[in-house]
Amino acid sequence: MLCRVAQIRRCAASLSQAVQQAHRQKHTLPDLTYDYGALEPHINAEIMQLHHSKHHATYVNNLNVTEEKYQEALAKGDVTVQVALQPALKFNGGGHINHTIFWTNLSPNAGGEPQGELMEAIKRDFGSFQSMKERMSAAAVTVQGSGWSWLGYDKQGGRLCIAACANQDPLQGTTGLIPLLGIDVWEHAYYLQYKNVRPDYVKAIWNVINWENVSERLQTAKK
Ligand SMILES: [Fe+2]
Repeated sequence: MLCRVAQIRRCAASLSQAVQQAHRQKHTLPDLTYDYGALEPHINAEIMQLHHSKHHATYVNNLNVTEEKYQEALAKGDVTVQVALQPALKFNGGGHINHTIFWTNLSPNAGGEPQGELMEAIKRDFGSFQSMKERMSAAAVTVQGSGWSWLGYDKQGGRLCIAACANQDPLQGTTGLIPLLGIDVWEHAYYLQYKNVRPDYVKAIWNVINWENVSERLQTAKK
């Protein structure tokens, strides 16, 4: 009898450990390091507030729900459900990954030009900073529907690349490039201020790019 009680206690303890583990692994909405209005006049406070507290928060919540369902399917060995959950995982996981990078790519009193190793790499791979900006802007403007334009690092080739991704496809998970700088061109990122004129939003965003953050990402990517 005592043996049975000990067994039940052990089982309860490991279950509680598993529940705690699951709680620890829940994704959360990261705080911004600046106020919603700090990027004005380039991106207004209303856009930033909705974008962060509603749109990004929804990706986080839906990612947690999807992961929970996925865990259940894994536990049951239900491959059909696992496969059926893949699009939701890609969309919400990508949305969380992309926006988490995006907020740190932006900063008030930023813009200007990158310095040091990043600037050297840009000149080497695109000819000039202006040329890189033009190529990345063109990629952003020409995304059909919703998506992202990225400056990424090709680790194997040791060079910078411009890429465009549809929807919330995460850059590294779908192309292998390591994301350094992303421009969100979903309408939720600009419509309240720029209406349908995406090129004006893309032109303005260069005024709030945190090049220090992009440089740090390049350093980390090269390790
Ligand atoms: Fe967004």
